[in-house]
Amino acid sequence: MKNWLVTDDGTCTAFGTVETEPPERTYRMYRFLTEMEDILAREPDDAKRVQALVPLVRKLLISSYWLQLEHKPPSEKTGWSVNFLYREHEYPLTVQMVAWAPGTQSKIHNHATWGIVAMVGGQEKNIFWKQAADDPKTITEVGEQILYPGDIIGFTSNAVHRVAPMGDEPTISFNLYGITDRSSRYKYDDETLAAAKF
Ligand SMILES: [Fe+2]
Repeated sequence: MKNWLVTDDGTCTAFGTVETEPPERTYRMYRFLTEMEDILAREPDDAKRVQALVPLVRKLLISSYWLQLEHKPPSEKTGWSVNFLYREHEYPLTVQMVAWAPGTQSKIHNHATWGIVAMVGGQEKNIFWKQAADDPKTITEVGEQILYPGDIIGFTSNAVHRVAPMGDEPTISFNLYGITDRSSRYKYDDETLAAAKF
């Protein structure tokens, strides 16, 4: 079990310590949401945000097991599903459970906001690309990381990745994203890597 941070240059680095003991008092979702909002209000930097938020995500997941049952089965049509657990007008993040069917994979994309993905079930390969310094539409592959249940990975806004479940089971994850800047969100063609607005 590790905490990972992927920055805009596509490097994936382990950080921090991993707490596995649940807190004495149940860490409830509403406290988590309040503390997340407070951290985001005082910390503007994506990488520092992720490093400050991930320990709270881990604390929530080891304290509130009900969350792990909140996913929907992946859609037969798209191969994935999302169940929003919390979103509110002008609240600075969304909380989701996401599932991907075996044999599927995401588009290559950035999120144009910070993101955190906590693996709850299954194994997932993450592949990383880097945007050219002068052109976000041009990307180069730079590395990959396999994630296991208990791993939590965070992304800065222009980190570019693809996720692909491994093995025979769907992957289930608890995902948090900030507010997307639509002007800088891209997806990239599987073959040509040509960029399109996403
Ligand atoms: Fe993503």
